[in-house]
Amino acid sequence: MKIIDYIKQDIKYLPLYQSGKPSELSMEELKVDFIKLSSNENPFGSSKTISKVLYDSLTNLHVYPDGSCTLLKQTLSKFHNIDYDQIIVGNGSDEIIDFAIQMMVQPGDEVIMANPSFIKYDLTVKKSEGKSVKVSLNDQYNHDLDQMIQKITDKTKVIFICSPNNPTGTLVNNEDLSKFIERVPSHILIVIDGAYYEYVTNLDQLYSINHVIQKDNVLLLRTFSKIYGLASLRVGYGIANKALIAMLDRVRGPFNVNALAQKGAEAALSDQNHVKRSKELNELGKHYLYKQLEEYGFSYIPTEGNFIMIQLDIDSDSVYKRMLANGIIIRSGNKLGMPNWIRVTIGKMDDNEKFISILKQIKGSVEDGGCNESE
Ligand SMILES: Cc1ncc(COP(=O)(O)O)c(C=O)c1O
Repeated sequence: MKIIDYIKQDIKYLPLYQSGKPSELSMEELKVDFIKLSSNENPFGSSKTISKVLYDSLTNLHVYPDGSCTLLKQTLSKFHNIDYDQIIVGNGSDEIIDFAIQMMVQPGDEVIMANPSFIKYDLTVKKSEGKSVKVSLNDQYNHDLDQMIQKITDKTKVIFICSPNNPTGTLVNNEDLSKFIERVPSHILIVIDGAYYEYVTNLDQLYSINHVIQKDNVLLLRTFSKIYGLASLRVGYGIANKALIAMLDRVRGPFNVNALAQKGAEAALSDQNHVKRSKELNELGKHYLYKQLEEYGFSYIPTEGNFIMIQLDIDSDSVYKRMLANGIIIRSGNKLGMPNWIRVTIGKMDDNEKFISILKQIKGSVEDGGCNESE
């Protein structure tokens, strides 16, 4: 017998997370040649102030990071006007999703989530030997909150609300979410994933942080990976009442967020002009794409994020391949549970224009009866 034979069966059959980087491309090729519109990163990068802060930190690489993220949590607590101990920082908000499931889910327990939604939820539940209960989106491509309530059983431990939802970009509005939270029994943890919240334009529709911290069973997630442009540093945070944060902290490893990530996030938070500008540019790109898509007869889901789902009459894997052959990386809807759709990140204007011109070519060649994948 080999070591592989002794590895737990559940681990052997866990699905692998597939990132937005095609496996056939190296990071070097990606940087030089490709327009990456597959992972909802900020195409305008991060604040200019960050490189100096990171550079200054390089002399201290031999020292362990602050395991409590003290300065970052202080900065976040001022920024959101909440207490220091209502915040937990993670190695990306991904890690806080792991903590929440680890804290709540035993083998056989159930976790309710929308379908499709962020794929990571299901993967994490499977790792804990829990069961994902997936509730189809409604006809507006938004969470079907009534159905989610219907699915609650004695085994339900966690409910994920992804708002704006990845991949559809739809927002669960404040009123509906407030009523929903009131209906969920208070022993079930509700995780509101707001990874794209800074892009939301309907600000009066956002569930407030004040409400989150008043609830016993609500955890709100935010990240520095999206509008702040720090995906590679891996830093995100959770906000909840103190008792919940204290429990999540027990699951957290001692030095889970590295020192550069902590410094970078602090600097990013203090440059709100960069956030404002990124949002404005995202709006410009979004309305350019809407206009072009409408002009050329493509259906799309209006988005509150920095990505758009576009419906095609063609298999999305073949569109993905055609885009890749033309130097553009997008997400095929097949991987996201929406075949015949693609998800595209709103990019810089030049990139949006190139994307539209290739999309038109693809549509044209399908209408002419051919779809040459190698083009
Ligand atoms: C909805 C949603 N939540 C969380 C994350 C994870 O973000 P992070 O980089 O903070 O781990 C993503 C990343 O794509 C996401 O789309």
